[in-house]
Amino acid sequence: MTAGRTATESAVRPPMVGVVAAAAGGLSGLRIGLVEPVLARGWRVGVTLTPTAARWLTAIGEVEALAAATGFPVRSESRLPEEPRPHPPVDCYVLAPASANTVAKLALGIGDNQALTQVGEALGDVRVPVVVSPRVNAAQARHPAWSGHLAALRLAGARLVDGAGEFPLTEPADEPERGLPWSSVLAAVVEAVDARK
Ligand SMILES: Cc1cc2nc3c(=O)[nH]c(=O)nc-3n(C[C@H](O)[C@H](O)[C@H](O)COP(=O)(O)O)c2cc1C
Repeated sequence: MTAGRTATESAVRPPMVGVVAAAAGGLSGLRIGLVEPVLARGWRVGVTLTPTAARWLTAIGEVEALAAATGFPVRSESRLPEEPRPHPPVDCYVLAPASANTVAKLALGIGDNQALTQVGEALGDVRVPVVVSPRVNAAQARHPAWSGHLAALRLAGARLVDGAGEFPLTEPADEPERGLPWSSVLAAVVEAVDARK
């Protein structure tokens, strides 16, 4: 179990947001675009990364920066059974950016890393809302299984923020440098947390 809090806990502690990220475009903006704005609301954040996302963010010093900003270790590995959980129970998960790979595995219920284990369990827990922001190109979205994966996440109650209204999908060779739709992701998180009260 990674999530779920009693009414008493929720009443006395600020909301805890589980920020989970995969290795996709926009990842480098995770702290500035999402983590710091959530912290600025007075809420708490625990960050968990896929192994590849951890490699990318370690290379640019962002894993240390995220740990310093949140006050919690950044997770990318499972704990040993006898070790305590490094993050408090979570009120809302947000998976951003979500790579095509991580969306596919999440939709199929695969939990072969810590990031997928946490979000996959929350998808089945009606008390914990899940926001997912896929970051894919047009070729990835044309994979025959893609629409089914998104439908499975919607069926599980996940709120999808895909930025489609903000920018169109591009072909792999034409991908511009751009961030995630962070303000829309943040708005979805705030709405999901507030809806729990
Ligand atoms: C520079 C670079 C950018 C990438 N951007 C994306 C992306 O925006 N979306 C995506 O689905 N995959 C992207 N990939 C591929 C993923 O990183 C790759 O599928 C990886 O296995 C995903 O692992 P994860 O889902 O466990 O984080 C990119 C790879 C590289 C090297």
